[in-house]
Amino acid sequence: MNKLPENPIGIFDSGIGGLTVAHAIKSLMPHEHMIYFGDTAHLPYGDKSEAAIQAFSVKIANVLLQKKCKVIVIACHSASSAAFELLKEYVRHEAHVINVIDPMIEFVSQKFSGAQVGLIGTKRTVQSDVYSKKLKELNKNITLHSLATPLLAPMIEEGFFNNKISGDIVAQYLSDSSLGELDALILGCTHYPLIKKEIEDFYKGRTQVLDSSLVAAQSLHSFLLSEGLLNNASKPESHFFVSDYTESFEASTRLFFGQNLRLEAHRLWD
Ligand code: DGL
Repeated sequence: MNKLPENPIGIFDSGIGGLTVAHAIKSLMPHEHMIYFGDTAHLPYGDKSEAAIQAFSVKIANVLLQKKCKVIVIACHSASSAAFELLKEYVRHEAHVINVIDPMIEFVSQKFSGAQVGLIGTKRTVQSDVYSKKLKELNKNITLHSLATPLLAPMIEEGFFNNKISGDIVAQYLSDSSLGELDALILGCTHYPLIKKEIEDFYKGRTQVLDSSLVAAQSLHSFLLSEGLLNNASKPESHFFVSDYTESFEASTRLFFGQNLRLEAHRLWD
């Protein structure tokens, strides 16, 4: 039973994408201890089967539970769509589980009733149809236009953002006729806030670009507050684990969390 205010928040993703969520959480809740797990050995998740992502997620949950996390944030849309229900069941008594899809569904249904809304994400997220199912249940007359954009996460992992190549690939995807004229576009992959500027440049203010990391952090804050689980540590600690150490991951992590950061390797399977 880890559900105590002084215990850390556990956050995981396939790689660096979830750092956008971790960064938003740290900015909003600076007194929380944080454990981040990037499953770099199995990246990208977006083209894996549901069963494979479920298996990775359970292994990572075991690591985060061992480290006494009070809440596990699935900072990955692909894993949120494939493994949220399973993880909730799996860690039920020990920790809470939060995903990055439900907070965005709630936000969009409140702000964009009757609107044309786009979604870009990995193949796993788009094929799961989870966004359209959940939006339909809320009956807000929102028309969802989804497009899988599988090149984007690997491109970002390779450090291609804010340059000509990333701008061209983004423009090519967003010109796809299946998206059309949109009131808002959901960034349905936690890697994409890193290319938010290119996406906004493409739309030139015509379409609002929705960053799930901010919405997810706000939702986590309200949840911890309502459960009496917010921490007030004077010396909060953050630890970063990866299932396969890479220099590029360490460099990206430092971009978000400063040069003193130590990256620790933690294999999921031996
Ligand atoms: N950042 C993840 C997501 O939100 C995964 C991207 C990937 O590994 O394919 O979907």
